[in-house]
Order: sequence, then structure tokens, then C-alpha cells
Amino acid sequence: MDPKPRSQQFAHEITEVLDRYTVPVMTRSTGPVAVAGLLLRLDREAETPLHEQIERSVRADIRAGRLVAGTRLPSTRSLAAELGVSRGVVSEAYGQLAAEGYLLAGQGAPTRVALTVRAQATRPPARSLQPSFAYRLDPGLPDLAGFPRDRWLRSLRSAWRQAPIDAVDYPDPRGVPSLREALAEYLGRVRGAAADPENLIVCTGFSQGLSLIARWLRDRGVERVALEDPGWHTHRLILEQAGIEVVPIAVDDEGLRVEDLEATDAAAVVVTPAHQFPTGRVLSSERRAALIEWAERGERLIVEDDFDAELRYNRAGVGALQGLAPERVAYIGSASKRLVPGMRLGWMLTPSWLGWPLISVKTIEDRGSETIGQLALQDFIARGELDRHLRRMRLRYQHRREALMDALARYIPDARIEEGAAGLYELAELPADVDEPGLIGAAADRGVALEGLALHRFKAGGPPGLVLGFGGLPEPAIEQGIRLVAETLDPAPADRRA
Ligand SMILES: Cc1ncc(COP(=O)(O)O)c(C=O)c1O
Repeated sequence: MDPKPRSQQFAHEITEVLDRYTVPVMTRSTGPVAVAGLLLRLDREAETPLHEQIERSVRADIRAGRLVAGTRLPSTRSLAAELGVSRGVVSEAYGQLAAEGYLLAGQGAPTRVALTVRAQATRPPARSLQPSFAYRLDPGLPDLAGFPRDRWLRSLRSAWRQAPIDAVDYPDPRGVPSLREALAEYLGRVRGAAADPENLIVCTGFSQGLSLIARWLRDRGVERVALEDPGWHTHRLILEQAGIEVVPIAVDDEGLRVEDLEATDAAAVVVTPAHQFPTGRVLSSERRAALIEWAERGERLIVEDDFDAELRYNRAGVGALQGLAPERVAYIGSASKRLVPGMRLGWMLTPSWLGWPLISVKTIEDRGSETIGQLALQDFIARGELDRHLRRMRLRYQHRREALMDALARYIPDARIEEGAAGLYELAELPADVDEPGLIGAAADRGVALEGLALHRFKAGGPPGLVLGFGGLPEPAIEQGIRLVAETLDPAPADRRA
């Protein structure tokens, strides 16, 4: 019996077999060099260093199965001589491939392809879950192409350059102090918020902020939280995931019907007071006062979703509710509409009594948000770039919104628009005989992304509608998208009028 374990014995056998088949180095002065069954072509003019060219070639051969486990490679000395490079170049390449686990390079032993590597079957590249549409008319998208990359890059560079050593340590779970200062100043100035950096927590967006609050509420035994109806369906998803039952409260011309809220046993409510999603309405001053009174009376919590308040075109902005009752309102804002959603940055202003419980939930969840992006945002705000960007974008979005209104008037004249002149979307109510899901499906087949009102309704019923986003497309594309939607409508707008 061979005393070696079976795996070692096997390794020994295949190495021996492979040794017999190892192709001798063939000398060629020009062109690719065939070495141990692999073809190596070095391009001395290329920017890629020579060792990296060898690495890539050998790695590709191993992955493709042209070099199988156990194959013996030429010594660094002979391969270097063959290729006309220094031995250090080959050693560097072998060392890197050994570090990646492709090669086994023992002291004094020949270098071989590691026994653990397997050829990888060719497969299509990894796909994204993001659907791709020629025309994104669904709500929520800012102008991604308008994001000032150069200016952001300058802030990012400055962040890396000036970051102290501990900036790459585990972060402060509340967020980088200098960003909390900058955001507090910004929110006080622009949103009229009562912003104390001590009560500010940086998070990865509105969604994380609400999710932290939802978990904290659930842990305290809260079973029901009220939501606007219609309201952003993600509010509901986040709360339900935390095990909370949602209580839908109707929205009318003045926003959330606070008198309906009074009749529930909800311990908290989530509202979009500056720009209701999806109706676009603003919570009236009477309702604001009544809502705060409701919260104060029962020591309840208002969660203020302030997702796009700075984007106002022909109407004056309203201040944050949080400024009126900082001890009853948890305010959450985010970079998603103001800058871009891919940044995944948000900020919460919490009542003083809620700060530590939420920091504790966040610390357990993710140990704090990524630091360098926070430092870059602080620099971006300090240079006045956020204000500058929003000023530019307001003008651009105003034109895009006008293009949407014109296209609707022209192609779908029986759509009823809630005149909002704010944010990045408009709600278009459609005639009762329109099949909303059918329309969305047919538009998708033509490359147009739409979102229906039904998605954001908690109670079934009500007229069909579309929440149309205009932020992400230039004017001609908006017109073309709406034209395609009109062509999809059944019956066609012209027939319905007849
Ligand atoms: C109503 C509402 N709130 C908040 C957000 C932003 O969420 P987040 O900051 O997680 O991207 C959106 C984005 O579409 C939204 O529609």
C-alpha cells in the first residue's frame, strides 16, 4: 500500500504523466513563442508591462483548459532566455500567478499549474438586474448624464489627498463629523431644518434610514405605522419587511388626511410633506400643524421623506416639517434626486432621544457608511458645487417638464395632469377604460419604461394613471417616448375622443 493519501498520490501520478507530455521550448527569433504547449506573444511596444503580458497569457490558457492542472512550466531561466526578457520579468509573472492560486511554485521544485484549478466553461458575461429601456419615463430618475463628474472627481481626489490615516479605519457610525457639519449647515440654510450635527446620521439613502427606524420601532413592539395612500410603494415594502403592518391614510388636495390618522392606533407615520409621492401635492399649513399636534399628543413619530424638495420650478419651496418639531420628526434626505442614486448617500436628522438607538441599529447593520465618499461630498458642498448643480438642474428639469406637458397635450390629450411643477415626475390620470397593466406591458415591448399608479395604491380601485418621470431624458426623447405610449393606448386617444 502506498502510504501517501489518495489525493497526493493522484497529484504525483498526473504530474508524472504530464512531465512526459510537456512540450519542449521551441526557439523562434520572432513571432509567438511556443512554450510547454502555450503560445506567448510579447508586444514590446505595448503599455502593458511584459510581466503582465506573460501573466495574462498563462492565466487565459489555464482558464481555457489549454494548460491543465499539474502541467509543468519552463523554468524562469529558460523561459526568460526564450522570450528575450530578464529572469525577473518571468519570476514576477509566476509569483503573481502563484499568489492568485493558478500556479504552484515550490522552492527548488519546478513550477506547475496548480492542481486545484479547473478550466472555466465559456459563459455569457454577468448580467445586471437593471432592465434596459430606450426611454425611461418611470419616475425617480435624475439626469444621470448631467452629474458633474469632473467636479466630483476633484472632490474625490481632494478627499483622498487630505484624508487622515484613520479615514480608512472603521468609520464613525454616525458619519464623518465634517460632513455632518456641512449637511447641518446646508439643511438649516436650504430646508429650514433645525439641524444639529450631533443629531445627524449619514446613511446609504432614504431607504436605509427608514429601514433602521422600522427595525427600531418593531423592536419596541410597534405593530402599525401609517402611510400615505397613494404613496411610494417602497415605504410599504420597507416597513413590511421589518414586520410592521401598514395603515393606509388617504391623500387629498391638502395632502395626508390627518383626521383619518386620528382614527388609527398607528404609532408613527411616513409622509412626503414638501412634494407628495405620487400626487405631487404639498401638505397644507393647517395639516402640518394638525400632524405635529397628533405626534406631540401621543408621543408619536413622524418620518419625513424629503426626497426632492430643492427641485421647485414655478412655486415657492416649503420648509422641512422637521424645523417645526425637531423632537417629533425624523427627517430623511438623500443624494438620489439631488445628485445621483448610484452614490447611495443619505442623511437623517433625528430627535435627540432617537439618535443613539438608531446609531446602534446602524452599527450592527453595516458598521457605518463608506468614508471617502462622505469626505468628497463634504468637499463638494464646501465648494458650493451642490448649490451650483441644483441651480443648473432646476433649469434643465423645468424644460424637460415642459416637454412632457407639451407631448401629453399633443399625443394623449385626455390624460389629466396634477399640476405640480416640482420634482422629477408628474402624475397623469388616464381615462377609466385604459388597461393600466396592459399599457405598461405594451410600452415596455416598445422600449418605454412606465410606472403605473396602481403600484403605489394600497387600496384597489380608482382611475388608472401613470407616474411619469421626466428627469432622465432630453426633450426629444421625452416626446418620442410619449408618442410611443400614445400609439400603444387602446383605444387610441383619437378614437376615444370620437
Ligand atoms: C418617494 C421617494 N422617497 C425617497 C426616494 C429615494 O430613496 P433612496 O435615497 O433610498 O434612493 C425615492 C426614490 O425614488 C422616492 O421616490
